[in-house]
Amino acid sequence: MTAAPLSQTALLLELEAVVEKNLDRHLSMAKEWFPHEYVPWSEGRTFDGPLGGEAWSPDDSSIPEVARTALIVNLLTEDNLPSYHHEIATLFGRDGAWGTWVHRWTAEEGRHGTAIRDYLTVTRAVDPVALERARMTHMSEGYVNVHNDEVLHSLAYVSFQELATRISHRNTGKATGDPACEALLARVAADENLHMVFYRNLLAAAFELAPSQAMRAVADVLADFQMPGVGIDGFARKSVAIALAGIYDLRQHRDEVVVPVLRQWDVFNVTGLNADGETAREAIAAHLDTLETAASRFEDKRAARAARLSATR
Ligand SMILES: [Fe+2]
Ligand SMILES: [Fe+2]
Repeated sequence: MTAAPLSQTALLLELEAVVEKNLDRHLSMAKEWFPHEYVPWSEGRTFDGPLGGEAWSPDDSSIPEVARTALIVNLLTEDNLPSYHHEIATLFGRDGAWGTWVHRWTAEEGRHGTAIRDYLTVTRAVDPVALERARMTHMSEGYVNVHNDEVLHSLAYVSFQELATRISHRNTGKATGDPACEALLARVAADENLHMVFYRNLLAAAFELAPSQAMRAVADVLADFQMPGVGIDGFARKSVAIALAGIYDLRQHRDEVVVPVLRQWDVFNVTGLNADGETAREAIAAHLDTLETAASRFEDKRAARAARLSATR
C-alpha cells in the first residue's frame, strides 16, 4: 500500500498533537537560568570612546586564539536569530502549539546571544569593534534555510543542527581554558540539547506518519548540510581552524551528530517505504560512507600537520 504524500498543511496539522506533547515535555525539563549570573562583571573595564576608557588589546585576555574564533562564530550564529525566527515562524505558523514553540525557542536562543556577548565584552576576550562590525555584516546577509518551504526538511535540519551547536558550544568552552566560560557554554549547550530532542522527537513522529517523506527529508538535508553560521565572513577559514582544534570537525559531525540522530530514528529498520523512500535510505547509507572517508582523511591530515609542527619546534 502506498499512501499519497501528505501536503505541508496536512503534516503541520497531523504533527500538532506531537508538538503539544513535546512542548510540555520541554517546559518541564528546561531550567530557568540567568545570563547575568554567568558573567564575571567585576573583571570589566570601561572602553575607549565616549566614556574615555581603555581601548581593547589582544593581551586583555589569555583565551587561546582558536577559542576566540569559535566564540565569535558561535555568537554570530546566535545573533542571526531574527532570521531563523522568521524562517520557522513562516513555515510552522504562529498559532497553537507550533506558535508557542516558535516563540519559546526564539526566547531561549536570544538568551544565548545575550549571555555570550556580555561575557566576551566584560572579559575583553575579543575585539568589540570587530565583533560589532561582524555582527552587522552577518545579520545584513540574513539566513535562508535551503529547504525553507518543507516542514520535514526543516525538522530534519534542526535536529542535526541543534546537536552540532551543542557540541560546538561544549568544546569551545573547554578550549577557552576559562572555567567561567566553560560553565556558561555548558549551560547554553544543555539548552541546545533540549532543542535537539524536541525536533528529533517531531521527526520521529513524522517517520511513523509519512516514512518515505521523512526519509527523503533526512537524505536531502544530510546531502547539503551546512552549519547555520556558513554566511559569516571568513567562515571557511574559521571552520578549518575550529576543526583542527577538535572543536567541531568531520569526525564529530559524523560520529556524534549524524549517527546518533539516525540511530534514534532507527532509519535502517523503518518499514513501509515506497521506492523513493528506499532510494533516500540508500543515499543516507552512502553518505555515511562518504563522511567516514572524509573524516578519516581529515584526521590523517591533522595528525601529519601536528607532527610537522612539533618537528619544527
Ligand atoms: Fe543557541
Ligand atoms: Fe538551539
